[in-house]
Amino acid sequence: MSDAPMLPGMEPFAAAKPPKAKPKKNKSQYVWVPGDDPPELGEHSLAKHRILRKYLETYVAILTSSRVVEKLNLSLVDGFSGGGAYRCPLTGEKIAGSPVLMLEAMASAEAKANEGKKKPFKLDADFYFIERQKPTIEYLNQEINLCEAAHGKTDQIHVLRGRFAKHLDAVIKQIKFKGRRHRAIFLLDQYGYTDVTLANMRKIFRALPSAEVILTFAVDWLADFVNESEKFETALKNLELSHRRDLLVQIRQQHAIDWRPTIQHLLHQHFYEKSGADCYTPFFINSTDSHRAYWLLHFSKHSTARNAMVDLHWSMQNHFQHFGKAGFEMLLGYDPSRMNESPMLPFDFGSDAASLTHESLLIELPERLSRVGKPISFKDFFETVVNETPATKQMIALAARQLTKDHEIEVRTTDRKLRRNGVIIHDDDLLCLPASKSLFLPRKYDE
Ligand SMILES: C[S@@+](CC[C@H](N)C(=O)[O-])C[C@H]1O[C@@H](n2cnc3c(N)ncnc32)[C@H](O)[C@@H]1O
Repeated sequence: MSDAPMLPGMEPFAAAKPPKAKPKKNKSQYVWVPGDDPPELGEHSLAKHRILRKYLETYVAILTSSRVVEKLNLSLVDGFSGGGAYRCPLTGEKIAGSPVLMLEAMASAEAKANEGKKKPFKLDADFYFIERQKPTIEYLNQEINLCEAAHGKTDQIHVLRGRFAKHLDAVIKQIKFKGRRHRAIFLLDQYGYTDVTLANMRKIFRALPSAEVILTFAVDWLADFVNESEKFETALKNLELSHRRDLLVQIRQQHAIDWRPTIQHLLHQHFYEKSGADCYTPFFINSTDSHRAYWLLHFSKHSTARNAMVDLHWSMQNHFQHFGKAGFEMLLGYDPSRMNESPMLPFDFGSDAASLTHESLLIELPERLSRVGKPISFKDFFETVVNETPATKQMIALAARQLTKDHEIEVRTTDRKLRRNGVIIHDDDLLCLPASKSLFLPRKYDE
């Protein structure tokens, strides 16, 4: 860290002076005034904070599960950090904002990783907190001073004033000074949908292939805003969607009832193709307070990371949802022209959704294997379907196991020996259709 260049706009976090003027209040945005109570957190954001904390802890737990790991280098970037504290909408108590939450999550993950280790484990984490508003930065500095998990970490905490886009290059450069893998998690919790460009997302993944990005995107606000104005055109430019403007307007005019999901589905595909990431979770946070949903998107280049995030969605039932199918091809199966006849039900990661997912996998898994056309390892099979299902790897393995009991599929070892029906399926196991079944499905194996 000490060899790395100083970042422009870096602010010391020790001194906090009162602001000269109170910032203007915008109803939909948070305001942090040094010396005052923090703003009340929107209820929907409680779920966002819970998943962020759990994800960060899980991330470290996965990477340190081996007993021999003695050190982990990691950089955490909060690109739209806010003031670091809120009032809880349920209890009125002070609760952590995302930067403080990151500090706390790393301290608790390090303590956990040390449990049962003979040699001490060190989590070497750097934190970059970027925020545009000066009073908010002052508020954040005070909160960091009060945060126990920040003590002794002055050199690792970088509070940067200004726009995320302005700081991105310098932060990437700094991250590349740290370790060999350049592991980094970016939280890009923008207001609205215009401050994080797809070009910047690609920049992150190009420079830092091990990075992960958690992005909020106010998709329903964008959908509401679809019109033929110049302002809308500028918004589309940032999202590299200018060429889709007429289509979006047309959908808005012609789909009186289902224009929102129709536009959301169009955006899904676009985000996936243009982000520069290989793995992607396209799920919504339920927003009961505004009656509009926003996306909490997770991008990475690794199926393990994607799986860990989806696992958390299931563990936090009913906070997340999507409008799509339960099995494979969850979004491709969507047909806007049929929405009025049978509207797509929100899929909420609850117990009904879990049963539906299991049932769908039992039907669709053999059909997918038939499309693959030859025996495929469970690991490779998972890689091919990972982006198109709300199911976790474990759910797919359970369905495959059930299908062996029902004699619908076979599991073989790497040297092609048949495994017992009902066995636990490992990554290397080969999945295939029994010869009798493959006769009735579209393609035969070419063994
Ligand atoms: C939704 S709030 C962030 C909340 C925070 N992530 C949390 O969960 O505690 C967005 C913050 O980003 C700041 N902001 C807005 N535009 C920005 C930009 N272009 N670059 C950096 N910060 C920005 C706002 O002042 C605000 O404090």
